[in-house]
Amino acid sequence: MSSLIGFRYEQRNMHSFLLFQFLLLLSITWFCSSSTTTSPDTNFPHVCNCTRNSTFELNTTYHTNLKTLLSWLSSNATNSAGSHITKVSSGNSSVYGLFQCNADITPEKCQKCIDQAVYNVTSECATSKEAVVFVKFCFLRYSYRDFLTIAEESPKIFLLNLKDYVGQLATFNNEVSEMMYTLRHAVADIPMGSRRFVYGELNITAKQSLYGMAKCTPDLPPEECSSCLVNAAADIPTGCCKGKIGGRVLFPSCGVRFELYRFYEPSSHLNILRLGGNRKNRSHQRQIIISIISTVVSVLLLCFGCSLCFLSRRRQRKLLRGILLRESFGDESLASFESLQFQLSEIQAATNNFSQGNKIGRGGFGEVYKVTW
Ligand SMILES: *[C@@H]1O[C@H](CO)[C@@H](O)[C@H](O)[C@H]1NC(C)=O
Ligand SMILES: *[C@@H]1O[C@H](CO)[C@@H](O)[C@H](O)[C@H]1NC(C)=O
Ligand SMILES: *[C@@H]1O[C@H](CO)[C@@H](O)[C@H](O)[C@H]1NC(C)=O
Ligand SMILES: *[C@@H]1O[C@H](CO)[C@@H](O)[C@H](O)[C@H]1NC(C)=O
Ligand SMILES: *[C@@H]1O[C@H](CO)[C@@H](O)[C@H](O)[C@H]1NC(C)=O
Ligand SMILES: *[C@@H]1O[C@H](CO)[C@@H](O)[C@H](O)[C@H]1NC(C)=O
Ligand SMILES: *[C@@H]1O[C@H](CO)[C@@H](O)[C@H](O)[C@H]1NC(C)=O
Repeated sequence: MSSLIGFRYEQRNMHSFLLFQFLLLLSITWFCSSSTTTSPDTNFPHVCNCTRNSTFELNTTYHTNLKTLLSWLSSNATNSAGSHITKVSSGNSSVYGLFQCNADITPEKCQKCIDQAVYNVTSECATSKEAVVFVKFCFLRYSYRDFLTIAEESPKIFLLNLKDYVGQLATFNNEVSEMMYTLRHAVADIPMGSRRFVYGELNITAKQSLYGMAKCTPDLPPEECSSCLVNAAADIPTGCCKGKIGGRVLFPSCGVRFELYRFYEPSSHLNILRLGGNRKNRSHQRQIIISIISTVVSVLLLCFGCSLCFLSRRRQRKLLRGILLRESFGDESLASFESLQFQLSEIQAATNNFSQGNKIGRGGFGEVYKVTW
């Protein structure tokens, strides 16, 4: 019976999944300068974070170095890795920088994106000694600190799909987190310096698929990449996109995204993991587990019922025996006989092996014999 309920539940879920297949694109919002920015994941032009408490003077060595750095990043935008890490040092100042374009875009699109990032960061973070800028298809950062090889998780950028998830949220969250787990390991396995993007696809129902992405910057050692992604994925069900059908958590060093639509251009050079075990299979597994549990519970209940029945029958029998004894031997026999436990051999001996001569009557559950000690 329990498994039937389980099955019906899944069916109902499936219907509700069909209701929200498409995304509604709404308003355009962008934010600057907030340590954790949450905004609707719509057409996002750019998000930048400039450190205001640490600035440089115009025309200083730092300024010159920064301009050189940004031009180097921009001139490397069409390289095959889709990313570039560099450092400019002169005098006693250094500036470190990197950019990373999404793995699914063309070099031309990457170039456009980096140019926009440079333009926006130069105008909005004009005198900041460090800045992080997220543009739709790319990401760029620079700093006076050597941030390379260190997992940095601040500032956090949360972008969420506005649509609420309709259905069993706990199951969906599990599916997202399982996908992120798989993607994380795959990303950390990609050698440093390469395109560290992995995409995932999972059919969660017959008509609905979950799409995911995890990325790390190329400078991160595998363990730093992995721990950064653990924290990014952990923000999905809590901080970023609670109850939503999609969203992104973007850190300077890594990022994750999930949606119910394919948000990337599939192509042969992308790392796409097609994950097995769709919800139907898992619901089948769950049905099996529920069946096993209900069987065990039924057996236990049955045993319990049987022992209750047995106990009450024993009580009845005890009572009956009391009555019989009283009938046969009078009230005073009750106390002395009741507590006695008889062995079959003892009874056999005492009744002269149930001889007819010793039989004194019939009770409700057998014959009654006279016992001689
Ligand atoms: C940007 O990020 C930093 C580091 O997380 C944070 O402290 C700061 O509040 C954010 N905003 C500005 C203006 O730097
Ligand atoms: C800027 O502020 C952040 C905290 O918001 C602090 O961690 C950092 O050390 C400050 N930087 C400088 C150069 O004062
Ligand atoms: C910086 O240098 C440029 C010329 O290279 C000059 O026009 C400008 O006034 C200088 N700015 C400051 C603040 O010194
Ligand atoms: C790319 O960056 C390097 C420094 O990292 C720089 O020397 C070079 O001029 C840049 N441009 C190209 C086209 O390689
Ligand atoms: C090093 O930089 C500081 C400003 O950050 C400047 O005052 C100092 O003169 C510089 N020293 C040298 C040797 O360039
Ligand atoms: C950011 O850069 C793009 C492209 O260069 C430009 O069109 C846009 O106006 C910039 N945004 C801001 C706020 O400066
Ligand atoms: C997921 O579903 C699509 C059709 O909707 C199918 O082409 C694809 O093979 C399925 N993938 C898996 C892993 O089952």
